[in-house]
Amino acid sequence: MPVYQATATAPVNIAVIKYWGKRDTKLILPTNSSLSVTLDQDHLRSTTTSRADPSFTSDKLWLNGTPDEIKPEGRLYTCIKEMKRLRKELEDKDSSLPKLSSYNVHIASYNNFPTAAGLASSASGFAALVSSLALLYQLPATPSELSLIARQGSGSACRSLFGGFVAWEMGSSPNGSDSLAVQVAPESHWPDLHALICVVSSAKKGTSSTSGMQRTVATSPLLQHRINHVVPERMAAMSKAIQDKDFDAFALLTMADSNQFHAVALDTEPPIFYMNDVSRSIIALIVELNRVSVEAGQGYVAAYTYDAGPNAVIYVREKDVKRVFQLVLAYFPQPAGEFKDVLKVFGGDVPDVNVH
Ligand code: DP6
Repeated sequence: MPVYQATATAPVNIAVIKYWGKRDTKLILPTNSSLSVTLDQDHLRSTTTSRADPSFTSDKLWLNGTPDEIKPEGRLYTCIKEMKRLRKELEDKDSSLPKLSSYNVHIASYNNFPTAAGLASSASGFAALVSSLALLYQLPATPSELSLIARQGSGSACRSLFGGFVAWEMGSSPNGSDSLAVQVAPESHWPDLHALICVVSSAKKGTSSTSGMQRTVATSPLLQHRINHVVPERMAAMSKAIQDKDFDAFALLTMADSNQFHAVALDTEPPIFYMNDVSRSIIALIVELNRVSVEAGQGYVAAYTYDAGPNAVIYVREKDVKRVFQLVLAYFPQPAGEFKDVLKVFGGDVPDVNVH
């Protein structure tokens, strides 16, 4: 009996123009376009193996070795069903192909980053799942086509189908056929750019992205302003900043968009707070660092961004990695023997920031 099995990996991505809000919750169609940077595969990725076999009695999934439920009509179910549909289309065209679409699948997914890193794994997880099924089914699909399906697992997952700089175009079709990811620039375009991850808390967030963003859509007047009057211009400006490798523009836009996303969360009824005092003191540190540098005529050094939680991601250029790393270390001393690339900045003591 032949073995039908394939393994694929997908990296984590961190948005610099944030996705927050759905216009269709089932198809996961966003209320605005977004743009992200895909992080280094070597450090932060999900690896997923899928196997199809006629002896399997149901579809099954294991996450880091623990069985996970595939709820009927849930997101995992939808992604697997959509991938089987694409395989079936292929089998209908070529009758010599084995009928893998009629077999159940077993899927095992692992993250190479510790859960304690406090990073959302749904983006890399759904992207790796869709990629492994695409390989297993030998689909001739492009990453943008696969992003249409990963999107239905978790919105941000569609952007993890590409490396480098990636836009998720919101699209306008009610069936979602044009709500997909496209690469703005490959990683090789700006290899100088680095991301420093500061873990403020590894605890699971209080309000999930999924429920938080729907509350924002239902109650925030500021979100309407953001969708209609802010994001479209910002998407264009961010693409240009990336094309031009203009770090000052990139940093200003990244920080402004993180701030507005958290303002929109605060504008939600009841309000949602994702950042804590430590998050805010990291912002103060970066603001002060940039102020000193800009005043000295040397432009921006670092850009912070926060997702739906208190952990900071700081974008810096290669020449400044060490300096920013050491500055963060000076204010937030690290426990010995912890991660090398991911800084833990736990702790109740909120430092007074003064870069001079
Ligand atoms: C703040 O993609 O996790 O990280 O589509 O409901 O699964 P669902 O939400 P998710 O939301 C991510 C929100 C964000 C911003 C971003 O990544 O663009």
